[in-house]
Amino acid sequence: MATPRMTPRRAAIALLESVLGRRRTLEEALASLPAMEARDRGFAHLIAATVLRRLGTLDAVLEPFLRRAPPDPVRHALRAGAAQLLFLGTSAHAAVGETVAAVRALPKGQAFTGLVNAVLRRVAATGEGALEGLDGPRLDTPEWLWRSWHAAYGAGAARAIAAAHAAEPPLDLTLKPGEDAARWAERLGATVLPTGSLRLPPGHAAVRDLPGFAEGAWWVQDAAAALPAALLAPRPGERVADLCAAPGGKTAQLAASGAVVTAVERAPERAARIGENLARLGLSAEVVVADAAAWTPPAPFDAVLLDAPCTATGTIRRHPDIPHVKRPGDVAALAAAQDALLAAAARILRPGGRLVYAVCSIEPEEGKGAVARALASGLPLIPAPFSPGELPGLEEAITPEGWLRTTPALWPDRGGMDGFFVARLTRKGE
Ligand SMILES: C[S@@+](CC[C@H](N)C(=O)[O-])C[C@H]1O[C@@H](n2cnc3c(N)ncnc32)[C@H](O)[C@@H]1O
Repeated sequence: MATPRMTPRRAAIALLESVLGRRRTLEEALASLPAMEARDRGFAHLIAATVLRRLGTLDAVLEPFLRRAPPDPVRHALRAGAAQLLFLGTSAHAAVGETVAAVRALPKGQAFTGLVNAVLRRVAATGEGALEGLDGPRLDTPEWLWRSWHAAYGAGAARAIAAAHAAEPPLDLTLKPGEDAARWAERLGATVLPTGSLRLPPGHAAVRDLPGFAEGAWWVQDAAAALPAALLAPRPGERVADLCAAPGGKTAQLAASGAVVTAVERAPERAARIGENLARLGLSAEVVVADAAAWTPPAPFDAVLLDAPCTATGTIRRHPDIPHVKRPGDVAALAAAQDALLAAAARILRPGGRLVYAVCSIEPEEGKGAVARALASGLPLIPAPFSPGELPGLEEAITPEGWLRTTPALWPDRGGMDGFFVARLTRKGE
């Protein structure tokens, strides 16, 4: 028998098996799909991402229709079918018919086509009524993250963060300095945010096809991700290290300011992307492939940006696989790595030099906890808190310590932003 064509629904089931069954990231899972048409691949990605975003809700919808749990691939197919019906506006005919066809192509799938057909028809008949009375934010958030956010931010804010994860995020761009924001906003159909980033609503054209991509007028970077380098405020000619730098969004910002930048990245294949991205933008930086925790530069730096590896729970809107691939133990392991990197960052700064520490996690152990541990451990660092004037439109995101704490629930009317923690310190001794 010929191998059945890789349809969007078959690909979506394969993506869900990779993420939910093997704890691979959605990006890794997408990279291992066989060659298929860009449109089909895009739809498979959308279906899988929607299932991951709304997994708890979808399972609650399906549960009453299932007497016993079917094998995993069939369960993924049911979730994918229900996501199309309830969240993606796919016609019932296509959602049911194509999903059943995908189940038929699974090993031993034939035995489950009747079940999938019957269940999805019932979901289709109930329509959005199936969602009534379900607590989406709670159902779609794993217990450990829900508890962590409750403890860190309180019940209302934790719920608002979880609710923000249900929506696809907008696309934010950072303009190269000197480019006219109003003119580019008009050309791109974007708005200019108070922090200077340009924002396009979800559903925009492919990034490569947007005006300004080819000539390197801007790069893709969430509005919150643009803040750490801006808050380091490098001056032309300063020697600046960017630790943990790939794919290089922050390296580009630092280089664009006229600083002399050294970007340090441990993964060689990711380090290569820094050079590619800078070349498109007509910017340059020295790229060093090294473990930033052990790297010794020839001379100390005027300023260091440390964008440390983290659980990335601030980026769940963009990466809905995160709640399903991360585990509570990851927080402690990454916090230990962050401690070592902070110590290394302090070591390579000249006396009086500035350090900006950033993570795209909303777990307190990786943010304010990391800075508190660094200060308590006796590193030669002094807090250099942010002032409201440095963060237009984000004054409420400044913590009592003077750090920046964004979450996806900020700027709800503008479309939110990634969750970042940012702190600034200076090296003692000047
Ligand atoms: C949060 S991402 C950095 C994003 C980047 N700063 C940007 O703005 O585009 C973390 C990066 O750190 C790298 N990394 C993790 N641990 C590292 C270490 N000890 N030394 C150097 N790079 C490291 C990872 O390979 C990954 O590329």
